[in-house]
Formats: sequence, C-alpha cells, structure tokens
Amino acid sequence: MIGIYLSGTGNTKHCITRLLELIEPGAKAFPIEAEETVARIKENDNIVLAYPTQFSNVPFMVRDFINRNSELWAGKKIFCMTTMGAFSGDGAGCSARILRKHGAEIIGGMHIRMPDAVCDNKMLKKSIEENKRIVREADEKIEKTARLIIEKGQFPQDGLSGFSRVVGLLGQRLWFYGKTTDYSDKLKISDSCIACGLCVKNCPMANLSIADGKAVSSGKCAMCYRCISHCPEKSITLLGKKVYEQCRYERYAADSKMIE
Ligand SMILES: Cc1cc2nc3c(=O)[nH]c(=O)nc-3n(C[C@H](O)[C@H](O)[C@H](O)COP(=O)(O)O)c2cc1C
Repeated sequence: MIGIYLSGTGNTKHCITRLLELIEPGAKAFPIEAEETVARIKENDNIVLAYPTQFSNVPFMVRDFINRNSELWAGKKIFCMTTMGAFSGDGAGCSARILRKHGAEIIGGMHIRMPDAVCDNKMLKKSIEENKRIVREADEKIEKTARLIIEKGQFPQDGLSGFSRVVGLLGQRLWFYGKTTDYSDKLKISDSCIACGLCVKNCPMANLSIADGKAVSSGKCAMCYRCISHCPEKSITLLGKKVYEQCRYERYAADSKMIE
C-alpha cells in the first residue's frame, strides 16, 4: 500500500501519514507533485489518496493529476480521504467518481475535520487552542478508523453515497463551481514581498518565480495556501485581502501524537 496526497498547510500530509503508519507501518506517502509518484502508483495496487476539500470539491490539481494519468487507475483499490475546515458533503466522493470512470475500485471514503487553511478570511480564524483541539479529535478519528480497518477489514464510506453528493452539491459546490474548474490566477502578492524565495521553493505547481525583486505568479495556482502560510512578510493573499493567522499544521501538533 502507498499513499499519494496534496497538502498545502500540512493537514492532509499529517492525516495520511498517521493513517498509513497505523494500518501498514512502513508504507510511504508521496506528494502528487513529486517526480517519483507516478512510478510508485504503477507498482502498487492498494492506494490511499488524500487531499484538502476545496469548495466542497477535489482541488483542480488533484483532478488534473488523475485525468492526465488516466491509464494508471484501472484495477487499483483506492481509499479516498479528504481533510476539511468545516464541511464536505461528498469531498471524498468527488475523486471517487472520477477514479471509478478510469477503472478504479473505491474501497472507502473518509472525511476529517482539520484547521482551516484559509488564513486571509477573518470569519474562518480560530484560536490556536481551538485548532489544537480539532487536531486531537482528528487523530482520535484516524485511530478509530485504523482499528476498524485492521480488526474488521471495514473501511468507512464517508462522502460516497448519493445523499452525500446532493448535500455537497447544494451545500456549496454548485455556488462555487467556477472556482474549481481550473488553476487560479487570483494570487495577489503585495509590495511588502522581500523576494526571499520561500514561496517559490514551496509551491507544488512551480507557479511562482522571482522577477524584478519580487515574487510573481504565473496564473497556475492550486489554491493550496502553502505559499501564503509560509510567507515571512504575510505578503501573499488569495481569497481575502489580509493574512490573519497563518495556518500550518506544525503549530497545532504539539499535543497530538504526530510523528514527523
Ligand atoms: C481554496 C480553499 C477552499 C476550501 N474549501 C473548503 C470547503 O469547501 N469546505 C471545508 O470544510 N473546508 C474547505 N477548505 C479548508 C481545507 O479543506 C482544510 O483546511 C484542509 O485541511 C487543508 O489541508 P492541507 O493543509 O493539507 O492543505 C478550503 C481551503 C482552501 C485553501
């Protein structure tokens, strides 16, 4: 078994790493942007796919990866996991449906609530204590799920039913559909940028570069918030206009059982 994932602020990376560690110690998880990921998928029939829910949908980067590599999936047994800030009607189901079309067998789905990565929206801001509690609850859910998988061979089915699909669609996806049909060209970089290059190094899309003493976006943003949450000057925004509290998994992990 292997894991493949997209993770902007570290939430999804933590969840997939922890689950794999519990159900198959030694199994590795690969970021979808890593060069070796396609080769590792070819070698393995059992796969855990994990990503953050974006607007009750699969991030476009993940959908693009699945579709560009459509020949990879036939006959694979896939467990779809998604992390989310609050709500995901069928976050796992969204990738499951695409993978099924490419011949994969979906063995389960899992939704895990984690701190919200969107740190440039005041309404979504939470205290560090609240986020630590959310991470502790997520870890408990992962441990419970791992026990069910190991002891009974039972995989959860979050987000895979027709009912979940309607909830995801009406709850959010329908209203925000336009935001998840392509990469975003809406990343904003203010003049406070000091051209340190941290965002360039971190971007999973190689979307950022330095030009004329400032970071610039080439319009292929995966909306993962990795650059935004790492920028030392808080110069980068996407959905909002000001960064409040940068979201990074490590900040909430102190009390959890994370091994990293
Ligand atoms: C662009 C964007 C859209 C999001 N949309 C949703 C959403 O529809 N529902 C939700 O519960 N969380 C939403 N979130 C929150 C993330 O799914 C959540 O914080 C996730 O755990 C981030 O994982 P990561 O750190 O691995 O990227 C969104 C985050 C971003 C950046």
